[in-house]
Amino acid sequence: MQLLATPSKRGQGRGFQSSPALLGLLYVVSGLLGRAAGCPSACVCNGTEVDCSGRGLFSLPPLSLPAGTSTLLLPNNRLSALPAMAFANATSLERLDLSNNFLDNLPGALFHDLGNLSQLVLRNNSLTALDRDLFQGLLQLRWLDLSLNGLSAVPLGLLDDLSGLTWLSLAANRLHALERAAFEPLANLQHLQLGGNPWECDCNLRDFKHWMEWLLYRGGRVDAVECTLPKDLRGRDIRGVPVEMFNYCLQLEDENVAAKGGQTPCSRAGAGAGAQPSGSPPVVGGRAPPRTACGSGTGP
Ligand SMILES: *[C@@H]1O[C@H](CO)[C@@H](O)[C@H](O)[C@H]1NC(C)=O
Ligand SMILES: *[C@@H]1O[C@H](CO)[C@@H](O)[C@H](O)[C@H]1NC(C)=O
Ligand SMILES: *[C@@H]1O[C@H](CO)[C@@H](O)[C@H](O)[C@H]1NC(C)=O
Ligand SMILES: *[C@@H]1O[C@H](CO)[C@@H](O)[C@H](O)[C@H]1NC(C)=O
Repeated sequence: MQLLATPSKRGQGRGFQSSPALLGLLYVVSGLLGRAAGCPSACVCNGTEVDCSGRGLFSLPPLSLPAGTSTLLLPNNRLSALPAMAFANATSLERLDLSNNFLDNLPGALFHDLGNLSQLVLRNNSLTALDRDLFQGLLQLRWLDLSLNGLSAVPLGLLDDLSGLTWLSLAANRLHALERAAFEPLANLQHLQLGGNPWECDCNLRDFKHWMEWLLYRGGRVDAVECTLPKDLRGRDIRGVPVEMFNYCLQLEDENVAAKGGQTPCSRAGAGAGAQPSGSPPVVGGRAPPRTACGSGTGP
């Protein structure tokens, strides 16, 4: 089926991208995906694999996949949103590839019927945040690719059901810190990709570094985690930064506790918040939270 002509076709180039007729045509094409039974028209089916790669799809109505479909390939389309029920009833799916689209927001219940899913590829979309329930019930998931998106956080709870996960990529996002507690459920993780993020190697990353060391100790692998901040550690791989460098964080916490009791001079406890003196410990980097009693009006 060759309904999806290339934009460069002579005589059709002008206004091709925005032509209502074309969009209508695409809608009809994608609408055919919703037909019950058989292979969706815009796709190629082979055994239990349904391949809808690179079909220029802008939208996706509820899919009726051939019974027993285990692989659904949707990469290299133009999908920017998916209906909450897009994969309802696709309980036999084991592999779902949505890479190289423009997805910027996924409904929290999108994958909830996919209890057999073992591989999920969301690489190279425009995701900036994920609903903490998004991966709920994906007990069979082994492989999760979230690389090349705009994620700035991994919410607590997101990975809670993924104790079977062995491979996870968060590479090339906008992450600057991760919470250890969010990763603790990943008891079987073997490979973690974290490169290409603007890591801030300060006290906020200390607990996660400890978790990473436990992962390495178990024989797991983590790729390079290069610090962007503080300046002193820029370009350094956090795996090579000795844990002792983070002892300062404990000291800082102690000082904060002490400061609350009014026993530590504010100038010392609040030092991390101001301009960085050249002789200060490198891990501080001016990123220390100025949580002290100094601002409360009870200081000396
Ligand atoms: C269908 O899949 C089989 C095995 O996976 C492969 O050998 C064959 O080439 C595929 N056929 C088409 C038309 O893609
Ligand atoms: C899922 O299956 C149920 C029962 O067969 C049906 O009523 C429902 O319409 C289906 N939902 C979708 C989105 O296909
Ligand atoms: C990401 O997706 C866009 C749009 O499909 C594509 O043009 C680009 O080549 C992809 N980039 C990578 C690194 O795969
Ligand atoms: C897994 O797929 C089988 C059919 O292939 C289905 O009977 C079963 O309900 C699915 N399991 C889950 C948890 O969806």
